[in-house]
Amino acid sequence: MDTLEDTLKEKSSRIISTGNDELDKKIGGGIPLRSLTLIEGQPDSGKSVLTQQMVWGSLKNGLSAMVLTTENTLKSLVTQMQSLNLDILDYLLLSRLRIYPIDTKKTRRSLTGGLMPLLNDCATRGFDLAVIDSITYYVTHASVEEVLAFFEDCKMLGDRGLSVFCVAHSYAFDENVMVRLGSMCDAHLRLRIETMGSKIVKILEVSKVRGAEMTTGNIVSFDVEPNWGIKVIPYSKARA
Ligand SMILES: Nc1ncnc2c1ncn2[C@@H]1O[C@H](COP(=O)(O)OP(=O)(O)OP(=O)(O)O)[C@@H](O)[C@H]1O
Ligand SMILES: [Mg+2]
Repeated sequence: MDTLEDTLKEKSSRIISTGNDELDKKIGGGIPLRSLTLIEGQPDSGKSVLTQQMVWGSLKNGLSAMVLTTENTLKSLVTQMQSLNLDILDYLLLSRLRIYPIDTKKTRRSLTGGLMPLLNDCATRGFDLAVIDSITYYVTHASVEEVLAFFEDCKMLGDRGLSVFCVAHSYAFDENVMVRLGSMCDAHLRLRIETMGSKIVKILEVSKVRGAEMTTGNIVSFDVEPNWGIKVIPYSKARA
């Protein structure tokens, strides 16, 4: 018979959560497992912070994660996450989390030849979640057909138990391609920065979350605060 702990773990691990209840509500309760998510936005809009929270929320819920990063070294990512009060050292030591820095100057540039083998490896090793922050470099070196084929392949990894988060700068895609990718993905989160009066606020637009418990299409404004991470601020207050 399952212990209560097993049951709780099973329950909470069915979704990928941010570990922040308020934010989870805005994304319809969380992102389903075995899914493909696109997180895109302009520079500095919070893509990495949002992704780091999702990794943290997943680890806390008993899942395992691999982070493929073109933006950080192992040490700088650990420090960055610590600055948001997301301490991942124990998970690294327990091998529930792996961080794989990608040096884009040294590795193969192609999505299919460079990135896909790494993702396949994540699935083979039984990881629950793979995050690529970011795919921008690869996408800007690929044809539209290659990008679409890559996303199709990522989707298939769901059948092997792996959820994939692709983080990208919006400028990497034509609007037409973005629409096609958005419809292929299970979840599509768009980030941007808006100036409201004298303030600069970050905006998260939840374009889509498949199987969400609550309605999506939400627009959330937020700030990033030291030792806290994403702090949702009411849209009306942000505009005030
Ligand atoms: N510990 C922290 N305390 C306060 N602000 C932080 C902290 N960590 C990150 N930020 C801020 O959060 C904002 C979003 O950063 P983030 O790295 O998520 O953006 P991004 O969309 O990934 O940008 P890029 O396109 O450059 O990768 C930045 O303004 C950054 O300075
Ligand atoms: Mg980033």
